[in-house]
Amino acid sequence: IIKRSLSTSTSRNAISNITVIGGGLMGSGIAQVAAATGLNVTLVEVNADLLKKAEERIADSLGRVAKKQYKDDKSAAAKFVDETRSRIKGNTNPEDAVKDSDLVVEAIVEKLEVKHDLFKKLDKAAPEKTIFASNTSSLSIGDIASVTNRKDRFGGLHFFNPVPVMKLLEVIRTSETSQDTYTAMMEWGKSIGKVCITCKDTPGFVVNRLLVPYLAEAIRMMERGDASARDIDTAMKLGAGHPMGPLELADYVGHDTNLHILEGWHKKFPDNPLFVPCESERKLVQEGKLGVKTGEGYYKYNK
Ligand code: NAI
Repeated sequence: IIKRSLSTSTSRNAISNITVIGGGLMGSGIAQVAAATGLNVTLVEVNADLLKKAEERIADSLGRVAKKQYKDDKSAAAKFVDETRSRIKGNTNPEDAVKDSDLVVEAIVEKLEVKHDLFKKLDKAAPEKTIFASNTSSLSIGDIASVTNRKDRFGGLHFFNPVPVMKLLEVIRTSETSQDTYTAMMEWGKSIGKVCITCKDTPGFVVNRLLVPYLAEAIRMMERGDASARDIDTAMKLGAGHPMGPLELADYVGHDTNLHILEGWHKKFPDNPLFVPCESERKLVQEGKLGVKTGEGYYKYNK
């Protein structure tokens, strides 16, 4: 028992420097949350401009968090924002950024080849101890890890948007992820304030495996003319107690994202009818109607 608890606390203490690769929607949120809990974060983007944009996004979001957390205490709020920002260092060289890293969280584009290129480089540049994790929504963690020589120190850390607000973290364990790596990822997730659940390396993990086919089923129901978009949404809100209906939610997630996930799964698992992409969604994407972010999807929005 003593040995076990010792090894747990060692692994927790071990993660103090983290590297987040990709400073987009998710990466900037992950960097922010980690820095706000006292970790040293290196944030990697492809160029200085994008790095600056990520830093601005983090500053905005931190401002909102501080306002809520330190309501009437302006100087405490400013201190929190400054201290958190000072723990995040930008870098445009991924190899240099992992030299001292205990944990790397990758949040770059959802393309296997691009992730492979990155992890091949990182695997050579990072120290032996460094744990690698991907924030992928729909790719297999095992497939991403396959190009590295550290499959035992590789897992999934799947966050939700917006990262500072959403409490859940899915911790994904492949058949090759070691117990120590898994424990370190779980401990780290808890230490940054997330509620962690564990999942095997199965398509979409828990949330997206259930949610993406559900949204597609709702779209198919509308396509067949069984019910209107409005009525399907009203039904699920008032009948199932969901805060948003499925068509509204699909508009919110973005049809480019939904379609990309379904197309990837359909290619890999052609026999699963739940993974068949929807025609009306394909049309929306072709027309650039990606949902809330472009002002139109199944519904129209004021931008
Ligand atoms: P995003 O497009 O907002 O950000 C990706 C960023 O990565 C871009 O700023 C891009 O410049 C940068 N990037 C691309 N290649 C790079 C490289 N080689 N090195 C460094 N930076 C690079 O995308 P988003 O939404 O943040 O998604 C990132 C990952 O997170 C994807 O794997 C996605 O599946 C996953 N994810 C997305 C969620 C969402 O709601 N958007 C939720 C959970 C996971």
